[in-house]
Amino acid sequence: MARAHGKVILFGEHAVVYGVPAIAVGISAGANARAFSAAVASISIGDFRARAGDGSELALALEALLAALGAPPYALEVELELPAGAGLGASAALGVAIARAVLEAVGEPPAEARVLPAAAAWEGVFHGSASGIDAAAAFHGGCLWYSRADGARRLEPGAELSLAIALAGPPAPTRSMVESVARLKSRRPEVVDKALAGIRALVDNARLSLEAGDRRSLGQLMDLNHMILSGLFVSTEGIETACRLAREAGALGAKLTGAGGGGAVVALVEDDAEPVLAAWRAAELRCFAARVMPGAGDS
Ligand code: MEV
Repeated sequence: MARAHGKVILFGEHAVVYGVPAIAVGISAGANARAFSAAVASISIGDFRARAGDGSELALALEALLAALGAPPYALEVELELPAGAGLGASAALGVAIARAVLEAVGEPPAEARVLPAAAAWEGVFHGSASGIDAAAAFHGGCLWYSRADGARRLEPGAELSLAIALAGPPAPTRSMVESVARLKSRRPEVVDKALAGIRALVDNARLSLEAGDRRSLGQLMDLNHMILSGLFVSTEGIETACRLAREAGALGAKLTGAGGGGAVVALVEDDAEPVLAAWRAAELRCFAARVMPGAGDS
């Protein structure tokens, strides 16, 4: 069975689309895939089924992934452990797990240089032009520094990171959130360029704080990154409430993660995530804890 991670972007979502570096961590929940030889390519994910040629997005994504790998048809059986479309990298985890499963089935090593372009072809059907950060985090796990120009580089946190993650509202499609920032950039370039410069400075500082294991300043930087994202109109009332609840319950910092417009919020806590999770549960938010250990990651 092939596996891939979900992800949480700690710093730099949206800006990463415009070449600014970002920091992401892989989380243990992700996707599993198995590939079986078949006359016609098909895929089943829980209740969703698609067959090559049926014109569904799922079928188009599978066709694009198999074409990118130059692979024959396979029947894919896939399990997803993440909510889809919540900003936690579900679609990239699916693309990476499926590409790994197909390469294993054809007897080829699932190398990064083969898996990531296939995952990009898969994600392209759902997200338009993704930056590639989700697929890099799905592939590597652990903690990553990522830019479009240079790809992924492993970061070594100086201390364990304890995260709390909530689903703050119905998700919005990544494609439409990325397009809304692009529209703002063409209408008000000075606003978005200033935001991008601010996020670039935050990400540089966050790398230093992360490597030094300075959780307090990381939390403050997360709050600042969130403020800039709100200024790009990708936050929602639900996200703002979830961030406020987390901070009131003692989080060191909290922000939206992923594309926003709904979806997930991530909070950094000193150690025990339970007080933040309890505050979210009291507000009827679905939530869970995740830890990033120094040295974590697959490759
Ligand atoms: C989505 O997880 C992150 C975005 O920056 C889009 C992308 O990087 O492809 C919003």
